[in-house]
Amino acid sequence: MRQFTRIQEVKDYLKTEIQKGLTIGFVPTMGALHEGHLGLIRRSKLENDITVCSIFVNPIQFNNQEDLAKYPRTFEQDRRMLEEHACDVVFAPEKAEMYPDGEIYLLDIEFGMLDKVMEGKFRPGHFNGVAIVVKKLFDIVKPTRAYFGKKDFQQLAVIKYLVEKLELPVEIISCETIREPDGLAMSSRNTRLTNAERNIAPKIYQILCDVKEKAGTIPVSELKEWGIKKIQENPALRVEYFEIGDKQSLLPAENWKYKNQLVAFIAVFLGEVRLIDNIELFS
Ligand code: PAF
Repeated sequence: MRQFTRIQEVKDYLKTEIQKGLTIGFVPTMGALHEGHLGLIRRSKLENDITVCSIFVNPIQFNNQEDLAKYPRTFEQDRRMLEEHACDVVFAPEKAEMYPDGEIYLLDIEFGMLDKVMEGKFRPGHFNGVAIVVKKLFDIVKPTRAYFGKKDFQQLAVIKYLVEKLELPVEIISCETIREPDGLAMSSRNTRLTNAERNIAPKIYQILCDVKEKAGTIPVSELKEWGIKKIQENPALRVEYFEIGDKQSLLPAENWKYKNQLVAFIAVFLGEVRLIDNIELFS
């Protein structure tokens, strides 16, 4: 596996490969890799000649400095996991390489409501930071395809919109959420849960599954209330939002008219750790 920290070096290397007519699959990450990321790497390897993984804890997408400081950094272990999965290239730049002093990155895109509801409401500026870094990484790697997990459903919607708006020549591949055997969605943040919290965490997906079972049988507003009540039954879970929304616009649904489009979204705090998950209600 080739390892790069410099933008120009990885660009030069990939340029030569692209000139040979090879396809590039790209998995952008913030490290602390787990089976969810490895699933993306495996898929990319099946569908492309070269797979590139980036590891960069992007400071401008954190609206909470404590969250940024506590974000797990496990580069050596990540590198080993990528080696074992025969990833071809790892790009792990320092902050100063991505955001040199004095250089300001602005994205002149209006995301409509996509970056204002749910995560956008509770993490102001988050998606702007994601969009800036993803655009910058796409400019560097010039991938044929880029792979993102559906656990971050709203992020995926924002990135698809970004690609469409800027007509970026990359295909966005949405991949199913990878879960632990007990249903908990894999996330780098799970490592921050205490044992007691880890035992409670599968409740989040169980509630989503119960919501899916009830979907269409009672009005949307009642199902939302029911979902919130279910979360609140467990005192360790502090609900930030529970929403039923359209998978493209992400706007809250008022009825079941376009039910195949509907997804239930959840964000909760379990102790100090903020966890998100979602479920497509009619698929
Ligand atoms: O999903 C993530 O890990 C990050 O938001 C991403 C897409 C790598 C951008 O920093």
